[in-house]
Amino acid sequence: MSPHILVTGGAGFIGSHTCVALAAAGYTPLIFDNFCNADPRVVERLETIIGNKPVAIQGDVRSRADLDRVFEQYRVQGVIHFAGLKAVGDSVADPLGYYDNNVAGSVVLAQAMLAAGVDTLVFSSSATVYGDPDQSPVPESAACRPANPYGRTKRMVEEILSDLHHANPSWRISVLRYFNPVGAHESGLIGEHPRGKPNNLMPFVSQVAVGLRDKLAVHGGDYPTPDGTGVRDYVHVMDLAEGHVAALRHSERQPGIVTLNLGTGQGASVLDVIKSFERASGKSIAHEIGPRRPGDVAANWADPTLATATLGWRATRTLDQMCADSWRWQQANPNGYEPSAAR
Ligand code: NAD
Ligand code: UFG
Repeated sequence: MSPHILVTGGAGFIGSHTCVALAAAGYTPLIFDNFCNADPRVVERLETIIGNKPVAIQGDVRSRADLDRVFEQYRVQGVIHFAGLKAVGDSVADPLGYYDNNVAGSVVLAQAMLAAGVDTLVFSSSATVYGDPDQSPVPESAACRPANPYGRTKRMVEEILSDLHHANPSWRISVLRYFNPVGAHESGLIGEHPRGKPNNLMPFVSQVAVGLRDKLAVHGGDYPTPDGTGVRDYVHVMDLAEGHVAALRHSERQPGIVTLNLGTGQGASVLDVIKSFERASGKSIAHEIGPRRPGDVAANWADPTLATATLGWRATRTLDQMCADSWRWQQANPNGYEPSAAR
């Protein structure tokens, strides 16, 4: 049997796109997901894109028995660990649920890997570990001051992995801190479909464009930024997916632990995103500038030079491409993976 890359959370937004990038690079992805925030129909869409159906196993990273079964049944050469919960507001309301899923889940996964003799791991961290950074672009050496339980779960796992590597120097670990992942695969077959009202900008904008929402509330127009709206580093999900493949290749070449920002190194404001989406879709995006959202920072973008130096990776897709690809996905799938047109 050919070796597999175990992709926990592989049915989710970034995980599913990473399965495409893995297959394109000659790897065989093995999806492991409890489907708490994913639709199993994504697997058929992946089959259409990749040309063969990836194995998908329903399981929970907090279950040692679920993981042991996978490591017994398949030859796993490395793990990319996306499985986790990611809503900042929910993490404030349910911190124990977040520590259980994100921290305990990662510990159980690492234990199962140790037992199975698998030592190559790419971990989904987040720029959220920086909290409100002192400056942008933000280098990896910036202080980590996560401002909510979600961010603390990511930082705790980073520290756990650092300790794990200290105790087991032969391990090969990449910790990837993503900035703002958006866009979709260019086929329009897979993409992001948040349940309920989107919290994040891009899905909200695309739902306004497709007519699912009336208008976008712009959270603040009085920030000290060029146009007064918040500035972020939006990175195309396929660039991010390719960053994971590059990290995996790097880890295969040499043991060690690396922590890298994945972003474009460029900031875009909320109004920049609206204008770009209007160009991509030919629709006008109704919006209204309202009050700031509590907890938001004015500007936050990456210094990605270390990722480029270490992995030879850089994000290449533009904001216009991110919007065009989000729009293609949204237009073709207004209800996500639901086939019906019912709203
Ligand atoms: P997502 O919710 O689409 O994907 C996460 C997947 O993990 C889902 O398919 C979900 O069903 C699965 N999952 C959750 N808990 C699980 C468990 N206990 N066992 C097995 N599967 C489980 O989210 P995403 O946007 O693809 O994010 C992937 C990872 O990247 C997450 O760890 C997230 O915290 C991190 N991240 C995301 C962003 C972002 O803005 N999307 C930014 C930075 C970091
Ligand atoms: N925004 C709006 N209106 C909306 C939604 C967002 O104006 O309806 C603005 C925000 O105020 C911010 C920008 O659009 O200026 C981006 O907001 P997102 O919610 O899309 O992204 P954030 O940067 O706030 O958060 C993202 C992830 C979090 C993560 C954080 C830091 O969603 O999980 O980056 O990495 F914690």
